[in-house]
Amino acid sequence: MVDGTNRQWLFEKRPEGPVGSHNFRWARSDIPSPGEGQMLVRNLWLSFEPTQVLNMSAPPEEGGYPLGAPMRGLATSQVLASRIPSFQPGDLVYGFSGWEDFSVSDGKGYWDTTKVPPGVPPNLAAGTLGITGIVAYFGVTEIAKPRPGEVLVVSAAAGGVGSVAVQVAKVLGLRVIGIAGGREKCDWLREDAHLDGVIDHRSENVAARLDALCPTGIDIFFDNVGGPVLDLALERLRPHGRIVLCGMTSRYQQAPSVPGPMNYPQLIMVNGRMEGLLGRDYFDRFPEAIAALRAWIDAGRLKSKEDVVVGLENAPSALARLYSGANVGKQLLKIADPAPPSPD
Ligand SMILES: NC(=O)c1ccc[n+]([C@@H]2O[C@H](COP(=O)([O-])OP(=O)(O)OC[C@H]3O[C@@H](n4cnc5c(N)ncnc54)[C@H](OP(=O)(O)O)[C@@H]3O)[C@@H](O)[C@H]2O)c1
Repeated sequence: MVDGTNRQWLFEKRPEGPVGSHNFRWARSDIPSPGEGQMLVRNLWLSFEPTQVLNMSAPPEEGGYPLGAPMRGLATSQVLASRIPSFQPGDLVYGFSGWEDFSVSDGKGYWDTTKVPPGVPPNLAAGTLGITGIVAYFGVTEIAKPRPGEVLVVSAAAGGVGSVAVQVAKVLGLRVIGIAGGREKCDWLREDAHLDGVIDHRSENVAARLDALCPTGIDIFFDNVGGPVLDLALERLRPHGRIVLCGMTSRYQQAPSVPGPMNYPQLIMVNGRMEGLLGRDYFDRFPEAIAALRAWIDAGRLKSKEDVVVGLENAPSALARLYSGANVGKQLLKIADPAPPSPD
């Protein structure tokens, strides 16, 4: 039993428009004790994903988050007490947890909780070396199957997934064009990620800029957004072009009846391929992606771009940043530092 108070954000109201603090209730409770087959963790860094809004909107029978319980989300946490043989007090772990200081977990979820590899800081484990970087890695290497010199375009290119995808593609020798919203994101893509071309969809005509930057068309489109930009990419897809469907952030807050892409007949005309990507399918290969991404970070070839909000009390506004487009890089929230290892 750990003494103290557990600060929590309880999920109270399904979204009927943009998400924010009105969907949650701030509460305090006792720190829970782990039962048989459970562990007690202290949450250190929360990770925010656009799909959390899908889970907030869906009814529980369709995988939606339950009302009245702590808001769910991915986190890096530290084990305080464990009744699971494979986890020990002091371990840093990455997996599904809650918007609260302390959580009890059985280590199961959409995928199982994993141990953070030794030497990896908790923020990196929650961001670029978490599912965010893992889907970027497999989306580019496995779904896109790129050849050096091909033209790859990424939407939401300065977001969590996008910022890794563009850099992985550069490492693999592609000509990379990023589409992002706003000057700060575009400056980062140009000056830090060294892209070959950048399009600011807030101030530029995306179709005209794609024509200028990709005069012979697009070999690979890595889509994080969906909607009109997917149509623009389809229209410009080159022979044997590939579209990686990683996410559809433009659709998650809308009614499901939004029309789909108009230009999919282009897939026939160019012998193209459009393929979805589900990160959890690669669970057994997470270590492979983490090792590759880590090696590129250590070699200075990949920058982990993080957007850090501090303080559990700010979790609802951190989630909303993904939908206002305020986040530059992976949206994280810091709650606490890990405790140092015990002296014995
Ligand atoms: N398939 C998988 O297994 C998997 C796993 C993880 C994530 N994903 C997906 O990958 C995508 C990126 O996730 P992330 O965590 O890295 O988020 P992110 O890209 O860091 O953040 C969301 C970004 O999307 C853009 N955006 C927000 N609202 C939009 C709208 N209505 N229309 C168009 N663009 C909008 C904004 O970028 P701009 O300002 O640049 O437009 C915003 O910064 C998401 O769709 C997510 O669901 C998939």
